[in-house]
Amino acid sequence: MSVLLRVENATMRFGGLVALNDVSFSIDKGSVLAVIGPNGAGKSTLFNVVTGVYRPTSGKVVFDGADITGKPSYEVVERGIGRTFQSSRLFSDLSVLDNVIIGMHTRTTTGVLDALFRPGKSRREMAACVEKAEALLKSGSGDLFEQRYRPAGALAQADRRRLEIARALASEPKLLLLDEPSVGMDETETQALIADIVRLRDVHLELSVILIEHDMQVVEAFPDHVMCIDYGSRIAEGDFAAVRANPRVQEAYLGKAAAHA
Ligand SMILES: Nc1ncnc2c1ncn2[C@@H]1O[C@H](COP(=O)(O)OP(=O)(O)OP(=O)(O)O)[C@@H](O)[C@H]1O
Ligand SMILES: [Mg+2]
Repeated sequence: MSVLLRVENATMRFGGLVALNDVSFSIDKGSVLAVIGPNGAGKSTLFNVVTGVYRPTSGKVVFDGADITGKPSYEVVERGIGRTFQSSRLFSDLSVLDNVIIGMHTRTTTGVLDALFRPGKSRREMAACVEKAEALLKSGSGDLFEQRYRPAGALAQADRRRLEIARALASEPKLLLLDEPSVGMDETETQALIADIVRLRDVHLELSVILIEHDMQVVEAFPDHVMCIDYGSRIAEGDFAAVRANPRVQEAYLGKAAAHA
């Protein structure tokens, strides 16, 4: 298997705080990596460093053979990394359908000038976008397709999470980053989310996924490659059983639980 993403010695400092501390890992094409770790461990920061939201203080991000360290987010999307955010970034006043279509902008070729001077071409491209967006809305669990004309802000929490995934997929990523996709989902919705991710990988055999998760049900469903971060450092990596049994991982979780007790 070939490596799709490689993060080399990434360190991210915010003033005196070291949010990521010399983290290295890689993910192969077509595989799933689950990232776990207590609150504030640096998991979302890792996504932000990979997607160019932050340029790491030091270290390197290599995607599909190219150094993308600190590249602007739009370029990262264009190169094939799609993501969802921990807190919703949907356009709540726009329709469900429009939110997905917005996710396609890096894959469309017509612009404002075409709309003015080549309206036929623009219209054809728009029609193709609508068709593709509708297909994406039909492909996941839930009934997003039936709700496609509703404003995104009116959706229930689980549907908002599903819509974020549909929007990320609209950019046709090679690597999909999901930041706590099961947050706000009940047991049944979480099972449907797992089934969605499994199905997605059946359809797109080359798709790689990194998911940040607190829900161990989800991690257990993708047990081959798990990495645990604590205080910005990678403290364990391996299959789920090995990571769960690791004393440093247990201490990280128990320590935080004890601190909150
Ligand atoms: N832009 C920023 N400026 C300053 N500090 C930040 C910034 N972003 C993150 N941090 C800090 O970096 C640390 C890691 O945060 P991060 O959001 O990556 O954690 P996390 O593992 O995703 O946590 P959670 O499970 O709660 O989502 C935290 O201490 C956080 O306060
Ligand atoms: Mg986070």
